[in-house]
Amino acid sequence: MTGFSADWLALREPFDVAARDRALALEFLARVPEHGRIVDLGAGAGSNIGYLNALAAGRRWRHVDDDPALLAVARARFAADPGIELRRLDLAAALEAALDDAAAVTCAALLDLVSAAWLAHLADALARRRLPLLAVLTYDGRMVWAPDDAADARVAAAFHRDMARDKGFGAALGPRAADHLADLLRARGASVTLRPSDWRIAAADAAMLDAMRDGIGAAAAASALPDEGDEIAGWRARRAAARPQGLVIGHLDLAAVWD
Ligand SMILES: C[S@@+](CC[C@H](N)C(=O)[O-])C[C@H]1O[C@@H](n2cnc3c(N)ncnc32)[C@H](O)[C@@H]1O
Repeated sequence: MTGFSADWLALREPFDVAARDRALALEFLARVPEHGRIVDLGAGAGSNIGYLNALAAGRRWRHVDDDPALLAVARARFAADPGIELRRLDLAAALEAALDDAAAVTCAALLDLVSAAWLAHLADALARRRLPLLAVLTYDGRMVWAPDDAADARVAAAFHRDMARDKGFGAALGPRAADHLADLLRARGASVTLRPSDWRIAAADAAMLDAMRDGIGAAAAASALPDEGDEIAGWRARRAAARPQGLVIGHLDLAAVWD
């Protein structure tokens, strides 16, 4: 259990939808046999399957997550769709079981939580089965606030340090994950495409700006070095006193196919 709330996933979903590379998703779906099962890893409340099903209805899916609360939300969301199977699995231990009879694999906002060792395991499993992959919305380390603040870079560095904490898969790769997986897959013979899928959060998106400010600030404070505490506290106080007017969060969408 990693503690992603259904409320947070619902708040981010429209930003995910706006950010994603639709053309890349369509190219990926075109490579998946029509009756093949697509396995969505770390599927949460079903945002990724919902998006892709709207592009290509009628596909067979397996929704895999280990969080029972999120699985319950997804079960209600997909109740009318018999083509979507839900499975509770801990992907740190049971990736092979998740991929049973898969024709393709997807995930969203998952890669930055996992370790280099787990990505190597994933790359090996995909290569062995020659499964296409669409892995979207991996944070890539870019964080641009408007207006800027003298402590933005320090906060981002501490936030990235916090991202490296073990989320159950070993030390997380955080912003390096998409490039790392691209290298692993290319080394195994896949053709890999990376495209930006940045969140562009505007002044009108107050709830999202507040959530980002609070989440990033708390994570940065939790992983601050001894000499960073005051600077990060000052950043949090200034950002709380005057809500930022905008924020860009860099993500990457990755597609891999085997020719
Ligand atoms: C950032 S959320 C993304 C959820 C969803 N893909 C989306 O885009 O809304 C990460 C998801 O990975 C799941 N997760 C984390 N660790 C997991 C594990 N060991 N096994 C299965 N799922 C896991 C969480 O429960 C959560 O649903």
